[in-house]
Amino acid sequence: MGNLKYLDKKGTFTLNNPDLTSYMYFPLANEAGVMSSITPDLGGDIKLDQNTFLLEPVSSENLHNNKSVRNFWIYVEGKKAWSVAGRSAAQQAKLFDDDKEEVKLTAGIMWHQIERKSDDLGLKATVTSFVPETKDKVELTKIEITNITDSHIKFTPTTAIPLYGRSASNIRDHRHVTSLLHRTFTVKNGIEIFPTLTFDERGHNKNTVYYGALAKEETDGVMVSPISFCPVTEEFIGRGGNFENPYMVAKNQPLPYGIGEEIDGYETVAAMRFADAVISPGETKTYIIALGYGNSEEEIDKLGEKYLDTKAFDSFLEETKKYWQDKINVSYNSADSDFDNWMHWVNFQPMLRRIYGCSFLPHHDYGKGGRGWRDLWQDCLALLIMEPKQVRQMLIDNFGGVRFDGTNATIIGSKQGEFIADRNNIVRVWMDHGAWPYLTTSLYMQQTGDIEFLNEENTYFKDAQIGRGEHRDNLWSDGEGNMQLSEDDTPYRGTVLEHLLIQHLTSFYDVGEHNHIRLRGADWNDGLDMAEKRGESVAFTALYGGNLRDLAKDIMTLSKKTGKDTISLAKEIEVLLNADKTVYDSIDEKHKVLNAYCNAVGHKVSGEKVSVDCTKLCNVLNEMSSWIADHIRKTEWITNKEGNSWFNGYYDNSGNAVEGDFSSGVRMMLTGQVFAIMSGTATDEQVAKIVKSADDYLYDGAIGGYRLNTNFNEVKTDLGRMFGFAFGHKENGAVFSHMAVMYANALYRRGFAKEGYKVINTLYKHCHNYSVSCIYPGVPEYVNQRGQGMYHYLTGSASWLLLTVLNKMYGIKGELGNLKLQPKLLKEQFKDNKAGASCLFGGVNINVIYENPKGLDAGEYSVKEIYINNEKYGNGDVIAKEDINKLNKEVQITAVLG
Ligand code: G1P
Repeated sequence: MGNLKYLDKKGTFTLNNPDLTSYMYFPLANEAGVMSSITPDLGGDIKLDQNTFLLEPVSSENLHNNKSVRNFWIYVEGKKAWSVAGRSAAQQAKLFDDDKEEVKLTAGIMWHQIERKSDDLGLKATVTSFVPETKDKVELTKIEITNITDSHIKFTPTTAIPLYGRSASNIRDHRHVTSLLHRTFTVKNGIEIFPTLTFDERGHNKNTVYYGALAKEETDGVMVSPISFCPVTEEFIGRGGNFENPYMVAKNQPLPYGIGEEIDGYETVAAMRFADAVISPGETKTYIIALGYGNSEEEIDKLGEKYLDTKAFDSFLEETKKYWQDKINVSYNSADSDFDNWMHWVNFQPMLRRIYGCSFLPHHDYGKGGRGWRDLWQDCLALLIMEPKQVRQMLIDNFGGVRFDGTNATIIGSKQGEFIADRNNIVRVWMDHGAWPYLTTSLYMQQTGDIEFLNEENTYFKDAQIGRGEHRDNLWSDGEGNMQLSEDDTPYRGTVLEHLLIQHLTSFYDVGEHNHIRLRGADWNDGLDMAEKRGESVAFTALYGGNLRDLAKDIMTLSKKTGKDTISLAKEIEVLLNADKTVYDSIDEKHKVLNAYCNAVGHKVSGEKVSVDCTKLCNVLNEMSSWIADHIRKTEWITNKEGNSWFNGYYDNSGNAVEGDFSSGVRMMLTGQVFAIMSGTATDEQVAKIVKSADDYLYDGAIGGYRLNTNFNEVKTDLGRMFGFAFGHKENGAVFSHMAVMYANALYRRGFAKEGYKVINTLYKHCHNYSVSCIYPGVPEYVNQRGQGMYHYLTGSASWLLLTVLNKMYGIKGELGNLKLQPKLLKEQFKDNKAGASCLFGGVNINVIYENPKGLDAGEYSVKEIYINNEKYGNGDVIAKEDINKLNKEVQITAVLG
């Protein structure tokens, strides 16, 4: 197995023989909507959405099974036909032999290049693929064939790419019938499909999308079209043949169709033959292929005119590389340059998730695009760091998804701020949803100092679901739209602060038998979905508790800044604020308060506002927060028979605590620890004990660090589907990056730098070790029982990792708009007593260098002096917001530690 090596500081890497690792895929995409995946043997797919796949959709198992790839064949008289993708029967047969063909991958952000050598033919092929960063919906490939012998070589070139041209659902919903809809045309530079209909038993529609595969070769500096075509799969492969041994290529037959023909009703292959070529020693022959979409034949033709040109290809490739690199404006300079490069990919991953959603890469073969509520807020974290300009409005718009009962819309439309009612009537409430918007809002306010953001207004979401998923509003009908109305039938508008308060206050009262917030449909862990009645999530109760305290601080800051002692809130909220403190201990009383509130806001709200005193409000929030922390500390701290201690994080549907000593072994889950630490519920002594327990029960260095849980050895149907998964996989005990990274984040927050570093470093080292993780650079959703990185690229953990490394490890962060430098780097992370990072802050590109002249360790130092462009700014660790505003676009900040 080859070693992965970085070639620069921007994530570009090489890897020998990537074809000897299965399940590898790489993303190529643009913001016009093209989403491709490509494998070392040019497999993968291309799509715009669930219904518009140009190449057949692939799940991970198809990657080794499929013979359908973006193939390009070379036929040399007297030899076996050779595939530049390695996808010929003969090449496959030799894959495990010592003299297998040499394959080398070189790739960078959004581009992919494979080199393959055939000693038998004396040819080398270099295949470069990318999706140009333009408004066009097209993927481009350049194939260069080089003669590596001392004599002339004559060959016949043929490209053969199976086209699918329909919806992913037609894979097992009328696959054959939908091929009858194909109208296939040969045009000057290629093959196009214009299906008559889009086929769906619920209603057929006229199709409007043209699918095309176009190609040209370069001869003496001129681009030349193919000479013949075969768009019909069964004709191309021949009777008994297949895409790894197609008759037309194996027997070097002329392709049967010329330009301007129409062949209807068959599965399509874009098989195109070029004129025979003769290349002299060292000479290279170039072919360019464009796979794309259009709304008309002309639009597809235009793609050909624009892109089927070597010079254009090369310049679009360079522009595309630059485009994406410019977007990744965070970088590091540590003692481990591999870590810096790996982080470059992590920083890029949130952009991929915005493009692909949580669907559309081979492991992500679920969903129909789009993201969930949690993901929406999570992805904003990374945006806030990298593209902060757009975020303010995006956050305000996202608050429009909150319902007046504190729950939220779960179907998110494609437009910003668009939320859709669930017409299938699936009532599901994830109890963690209300906690995430505050984390993102808080980061925004700290980075920018824009605390007045809390006063921005938006509407609330409305559908038939009321009472936190318990009831239906039979008075509501679709016709009313999806905004909460006031009695006067106008959409009610409230501040961002009001939205946040409703989310937290309703949750506070929505408790189960142990007075922790009810788990309902699940929490962050989607796999805890079978404890709807009696389940409780202590884990997220802790987070809500921490948020209530932080929110109180924000309200006081806002009040000071605006000089206003009161804020205005919907009248109905008063009932949630005015409960006597004794109510907090009584589950029944809490329910009464919540029911009173939910009944008052079930259909319409009054529209009346009341003025609430800020200090009084903050006292209530602080009391609630302390009550939660005390209650968890008092009731959920476990010490087991081995003398280890940690927090129980959940109650199951039978009403039992799920962690501790059990006959099947010790049961411990990471999530409950993470939020107890992050929220300040755990005391410092408790944090130290939790770390010891996590090290004893959850840590596994062989798979990248901290597992999500120990093996419960039970299919626990009174808690969730995750217990049906084999242990060590996905939500059942894998190293689940998102929670592992949040564990690191929580530890850094509490000053446990060595412990936080251990979490990140073991995860990084594992992922970076290609021979075990079997993934390209970046952080996968999880690492499985065998150490393999799974569900690569599209994971919320990337946002959290970016944030944790920049804000916590490097300590470059906003404090109400001021720049605070509070690094927690370990001694070993400095090289020659220096470490640094660059990012965008307050609209300025800052390059921060930490100097650690005494070689101190985290915890022993703080920032003593700051220099801006080599001139002393001052003592201490803060640069004031107004001083940042005065700086040029690019500055060098040197911070001396002591
Ligand atoms: C995924 C989901 C996320 C969920 C998590 C655990 O995590 O996207 O919403 O909370 O599984 O079930 P991700 O891959 O984003 O890290």
